[in-house]
This record gives sequence, structure tokens and C-alpha cells, in this order.
Amino acid sequence: MKIIKNPLQIQKISMELIRKNKSIGFVPTMGALHSGHVSLIKKSVSQNDITVVSVYVNPIQFGPNEDYKRYPRPVNDDIEICKKNGVDYLFLPSNETLYDKDFSTYVTVDKLSGIMCGVTRPVHFRGVATVVSKLFNMVMPDRAYFGLKDYQQYVIIKRMVKDLNFRTKVIGCPIIREKSGLAMSSRNTYLSPEAKEQAVNIHKILVNAKKSFNSGKNIDAVIKETAKLLSAIENSEIDYIEARDSNTLQPAVKTTKNVVIAAAVKISNIRLIDNILC
Ligand code: PAF
Repeated sequence: MKIIKNPLQIQKISMELIRKNKSIGFVPTMGALHSGHVSLIKKSVSQNDITVVSVYVNPIQFGPNEDYKRYPRPVNDDIEICKKNGVDYLFLPSNETLYDKDFSTYVTVDKLSGIMCGVTRPVHFRGVATVVSKLFNMVMPDRAYFGLKDYQQYVIIKRMVKDLNFRTKVIGCPIIREKSGLAMSSRNTYLSPEAKEQAVNIHKILVNAKKSFNSGKNIDAVIKETAKLLSAIENSEIDYIEARDSNTLQPAVKTTKNVVIAAAVKISNIRLIDNILC
């Protein structure tokens, strides 16, 4: 596995791979790799000639009072995980190489960025779309792999790829869960053992919501009931719980065929997201 730090160098490597007709799979991450990331890496390795992983904690997708500084950065562990799972190139850019001091070009995916997580994290998706565009321009992947835990991010990236004519196919991969049902997340390391026990309830409650919805219960009633159960979790605070069309992220109505029920909930002040496709 080669470690590359320079954007021009990774771009040169990708251009050469494309010239040789090699397919490139790409897994963009912020590091602190866990089994969820490993599942994306494995999929990429199985579907492409070459797999590139990036590890970069992107400052512009964090709000001023969010956890940018505190975000875990176990780089040596990440390197080992990538090596062990067949990654060909690990891209580790720095803030200095990605964001010039006069940086002023941003990608905003209108409509989809101000809803759901975007309500309380107003700069988040602009930061995500901008850095993913930059990474796509450098790596030029045939396929890019995103976990469906960040469901809104997945829909936004798909929209962006279509709108901006990137050559990349966006592949959404199933949420990987701990045995307890808790969705894997690098932020789970912030949870105390007690908070983790409480957090497990989020998935259980979403599974119940799906059951109610699929048995014919009105979607508004399902969301009301789900909100009640989520707020009954000890030390919890709901950011949002919503049913949306899983393709467009428009609010789900009676006639919506494909529904995603998505939630963001703080447990002991740690913000967690999860969702379920109905
Ligand atoms: O999902 C993530 O880890 C990040 O939002 C991403 C896509 C790597 C962009 O920084």
C-alpha cells in the first residue's frame, strides 16, 4: 500500500490508472476506521482493480461549536486497517494542501442541504459536498462507496454527482451495527458505557417504527409515537425524527412508495444519527 499526501500526486496516479483502463474504487473517510468503513473497503476491493481510501478530517464541514478538534485521529491504526484490507493507495492530505488561504469556492446542493441534519448543522453539507468534489477531482474514481448511516449525505452526493457530471457511480452500502444494534460510528467512542446502553434503544425504536408503518399505520402517527419513545430514553434530546421519501428526501406522504425514517438524537449530549428504510 502506498501512502500519498500530495493532491497532485494522487491525481497523477489516477490519470495513469485511467489511461491503463484500470477501474478505481474510492472510499472517502474521516478516519477512526471501524467495521463500517471496512465493509466499504471490502466492497471496493471486490468491485475494482484499484482501491483508494482517503482519511481527512475536513474542517469546513464542522460548525464553530462542533467536535472538529476533538474528532478521533488514530492515524497509525487507520494505516494498519487499510493495509490489512487490500487498499492500494491511502490518501492523507493536510489542511494546507487542500485549502489555500484564499480558498473561496464551495459546492452547495440546494434544497437537500437545509433539511434534516442541515437544520441544526447549517454549514455541514456544503463542507461535505465541497470536499467530496475536490476528492473526486483528484481521485477520479469509477465508483465511490458511502455508508447509508449518513443517509442524507448519500442522497446529497448522488444529486451532486448527477448535477456536476462527475464520472463516478455512487454506491450506498448497508449500515453496519454493533451486536447490540447500535450503528457503527467513529463518534461512538465519545459515549460512556451508560450512554451506550441508552443509545442502543434508538435502533430498537426505529425497528418498531418500521413495523408499525409497514402494518399500515398512518405515517404521522408513527412519527409521533416514535418521537415519544425516543424522548423517553434517559438523557436524550431529539434533534429530529422524520419520515422522508428515500429518493428525494421530500416529506413522506400517504402515497410515498419508498420511505426512510431518519433520526438525530443526542444521548448525554453526544449527537447520534440513525435511520431505517421501510
Ligand atoms: O462521511 C464522512 O466520513 C465524511 O462526511 C466524508 C464523506 C469523508 C467527507 O468528509
